[in-house]
Parts: sequence; structure tokens; C-alpha cells
Amino acid sequence: METTANNLVTVEKSKTSKIDQVDFDNLSFGSIYSDHMLVCDYKNGAWENPKVVPYGPVSLDPSAKIFHYGQSIFEGMKAYKDSEESTWLFRPLDNHKRLNISAKRLAIPEIPEDYFMEGLKALLKVDDQWIPKNEGSSMYIRPFIFASGQGFHASPANEYKFMICLAPSGSYFSGKVKVLIEEKYSRSANGGVGYAKAGGNYAGQFYPTQLAVEKGYNQVIWTDDNTHEYIEEAGAMNIFVRINDTLITGPTSDRILDGITRKSIIEIAKEEKIAVEVRKLTVAEVVAAAKDGSLKEMFGAGTAAVISPISGFGFKETDYDLPELEESYASLLKKRITDIQYNKAEDKFGWRYKL
Ligand SMILES: Cc1ncc(COP(=O)(O)O)c(C=O)c1O
Repeated sequence: METTANNLVTVEKSKTSKIDQVDFDNLSFGSIYSDHMLVCDYKNGAWENPKVVPYGPVSLDPSAKIFHYGQSIFEGMKAYKDSEESTWLFRPLDNHKRLNISAKRLAIPEIPEDYFMEGLKALLKVDDQWIPKNEGSSMYIRPFIFASGQGFHASPANEYKFMICLAPSGSYFSGKVKVLIEEKYSRSANGGVGYAKAGGNYAGQFYPTQLAVEKGYNQVIWTDDNTHEYIEEAGAMNIFVRINDTLITGPTSDRILDGITRKSIIEIAKEEKIAVEVRKLTVAEVVAAAKDGSLKEMFGAGTAAVISPISGFGFKETDYDLPELEESYASLLKKRITDIQYNKAEDKFGWRYKL
């Protein structure tokens, strides 16, 4: 057993490695896991020291509250290798902050910044060889916290596990997506948990998304729960709409996740002198723009795909196609942000974090 320089994280190395079984040229997204994981237990009112241990199953009592009350939250982030094989993170402290925002909303104890960052760094160091070096590939990082404490009473648990797992992943691009603007179901509600990355938010999206897939769409565009008149998010991504040459995205609220990609895109677009409006956007405005030809682009923005361009949308039994653009904002912004992430371009904003 080793400990990190500051004695915070202990490291127990796996005796064997699965790395030889991995085809790094054909990685899918988030479906194979590295040799180690981080585990940190909350017991007796305090977080214990984080431990890097061999990757493997977790044993829980059937009465653990995660199973009954869904007290669980997560994050999604990536580590990137540059051409010199240095490793970089992108705005990792924002992920830590957001994990604690989610924790507070779900009555989960907050995780200290050094436990998160030192734990993550120790894990990435042990599994450094697992971080993909191929163009477009990266290490998808999944930090999560769940209620491991027991009891059938509906109240917060007294024990939790904070864990981080690593999934070397290929680029997410799977072509343009066709989306359905949702008129009945909601992802989140006023005063609810939409702004948190709570596991249950995603479970609640599955059924309406299945219905949309049955109708021939890939994803759902979520609208506000009250009137279904306002565009809010695209699947598990923030949404941007380009009308003429203006890029529009809704303001974050207690129904919308404050995406790190979204806020980075807003900054980069402004720097590119693209007109950006952060304001409420109605479905009616988007439909009218599609009809008069001023709707140029729509895309989702999130860590996994970075930018996911939309080819068209369905609304009230009618499909609207978007034009194919030679020089889209989507491809310009994706290149700008990924060049910063992979240390290929100057980082004026100070977003890169060297490991
Ligand atoms: C609901 C939702 N919206 C937006 C995003 C995009 O956030 P980020 O750019 O921080 O990955 C995510 C993914 O994390 C999400 O789950």
C-alpha cells in the first residue's frame, strides 16, 4: 500500500491489468473501465481518506437507501493527452463545485475539494497508461456519490460512498441527430432537482425518449414543465439555436443544468465576435424561424459529445429540416474548445488544468 505525497490518498495497486485486452483504436463511449477506481466512505459524520483500489464490484446491503430513494448524484468530465503525452483536465474545479451543488440538493454531505482533486489525480496517475492517446479519444471520468447507509425509512442515509471510475472512450460523434420537441413530459420542474446531476433525472428521461425513438427521432428537446412553450435542454445536453447569425441559449435555472461546455461555448463565441443571446427561447420562435429560413443551426452541448449537431426537429406531427452549412458555428466552436482541451491552442481563459 502506498500513499500520495500529502498522505491523503492511499493506493492499492491491482496485481493484474486488463489493458492488453483493450483495442484503443476502436473505443466506444463509456463501456470499458480502467484497472483502478477511487472509493471514499462517509461514516460517523465524516469523509474517510480516499483510496485508490483495484476496479471491481461494490457490495451493498439490500436496504441501502440508494436502491429505495435514489439518493445519488454524479459528474462527467474528461482527461486528455496532448502530443507530448502530458495529461490535462478541463475546468475540473467546476465539476467539483457542481457535484457539491447536487449534493446539497439531495441532502448528501459535500465532498471537500482536496478529497475530490487529490483522489482524482492519484487515480489518473495510477491508470495513466489507460488515458487514450489517439486523436479525438479521451478518458471519460465519472465521479459519483450514493447513499450506502441502510434503512427503509424515507430519510437521508447516514453513510455514503464517493467513487470515481475511468472509462477510456473514443470520440462520441455519431452523426447528426433528429430531435422531437416534447409537448407532454418534463425533465424537471420549478423547485425540483433539474439543476442537479441526480441519477433520477436521467431515469425519468428514458421513457419519453423511448417514445420519441419509436417515432423515428434520436433525442427529445425538453420544454418547460409549466407551458411547454420554452426550449430548455436537448437530451442530457444544453441547447444552442442559431437564428440568422445570432446564437441563442436559454438562461440556466432550477430546471436547467449549468453545463460547463455551455458556459465555455458562450465565452468562445463572444471572443469569435459571434452575437450571443442568453435568453428564453420559445418553440414558436424556432418553428417560425424554420419556416422563414432564418433557422440556421441547432446543437446540443455537453462534455461527452462536446457539440452534437441537430439535423432537424419534429413538432406537432410536422418535421422541419435544418440546412447543411459549409461553415457552421457548431464545427467552429467544437474545434476551438477541443483545441484548448487537447493543449493544441492557447488557453486565454485559464481553463486547462495540467496533471
Ligand atoms: C441535463 C444535462 N444538461 C447539460 C449537460 C452538459 O453539461 P456539461 O457541459 O457540464 O457536461 C449535461 C451533462 O453533463 C446534462 O446531464
